[in-house]
Amino acid sequence: MSSKKRILSGMRPTGPLHLGNLHGALNNWVGMQDEYDCFFFIADWHALTSDYENPGAITGYVKEMMIDWLSAGLDPEKSTLFVQSLVPEHAELFLFLSMITPVPWLERNPTYKDQIVQIENKDLSTFGFLGYPVLQAADIIMYKANGVPVGVDQVPHVEITREIARRFNFLYGDVFPEPEAILTQTSKILGLDRRKMSKSYNNAIFLSDTPNEIEKKVSQMITDPQRMRRSDPGNPDVCNVFEFHKIYSDRKTWEAIDPQCRNAEIGCVECKKIMAKNLIQAMEPLHERRAHFKAKPERVKEIIAIGSEKARAVAGKTMAQVRAAIRIKD
Ligand code: TRP
Ligand code: SF4
Repeated sequence: MSSKKRILSGMRPTGPLHLGNLHGALNNWVGMQDEYDCFFFIADWHALTSDYENPGAITGYVKEMMIDWLSAGLDPEKSTLFVQSLVPEHAELFLFLSMITPVPWLERNPTYKDQIVQIENKDLSTFGFLGYPVLQAADIIMYKANGVPVGVDQVPHVEITREIARRFNFLYGDVFPEPEAILTQTSKILGLDRRKMSKSYNNAIFLSDTPNEIEKKVSQMITDPQRMRRSDPGNPDVCNVFEFHKIYSDRKTWEAIDPQCRNAEIGCVECKKIMAKNLIQAMEPLHERRAHFKAKPERVKEIIAIGSEKARAVAGKTMAQVRAAIRIKD
């Protein structure tokens, strides 16, 4: 048994990953692989809670997501990488947890309250959507994870998980540790239009974009909105391209650009070209790994199968304890 603390996190396969996901989550996960016993999984059942009318795309997204993960540097030799639906024990634990979870806990879940009013084009008044955090709780406590690296939006779900774990232990005896949220710092990367980077806003740079696509997208980025003409002075403090420079260009470069921009000595076109070049260069190792795995779909399948088998072995042990605790089977 390894003495490392165990962490677990997951993503819903709802589309290709972009730079926001890379800086908001993936890079963080990659950096935790040596320090922790890591479980990372693709929550395809969770994707069904909102996409149940169009489930067809999910399988394709699962494979692409694993390729994105591997490209970003998640390593199947270090971490257990798996797919939720390949570990059906999650459904059984979800069922047991749903028996003991009071409905008001779910009804007052902030993400539930927000989405039920915000998302108008789908009928989300389903049992599964309300129960989303119960399935998430099953995902987490199945592996007795100590920590859950997530963005701030997911903290209420980890809180519900702790409450459910506590209630299970109270009713049936100590089986589960209470996991803690490990807050990942939110990505400063905005989309091309300065809104939050999101696939649905059509403003994202994807990990799968080619250098040409990246260049084209960068050329379309909104800069300092006050700067209309090349001769106008600009303000890097409010410019999203400048934020990208701070991530992808070296300090010397962006420290030089700062006064040039303010004195209209550099134009946005040129400034963007420099940034795009550095961004593309920074993405090179990722793009190389992506090409490698893209060319080996069988290897990706194998990685998913082996990881899910490893996860299943752990899940099987937990479920034996759970059934014994509930005295449903001996
Ligand atoms: N709800 C998470 C999200 O939308 C995905 C998820 C499902 C998850 N199960 C999880 C995250 C367990 C952490 C742990 O991002
Ligand atoms: Fe932004 Fe660069 Fe244009 Fe200045 S020159 S506004 S930093 S893109």
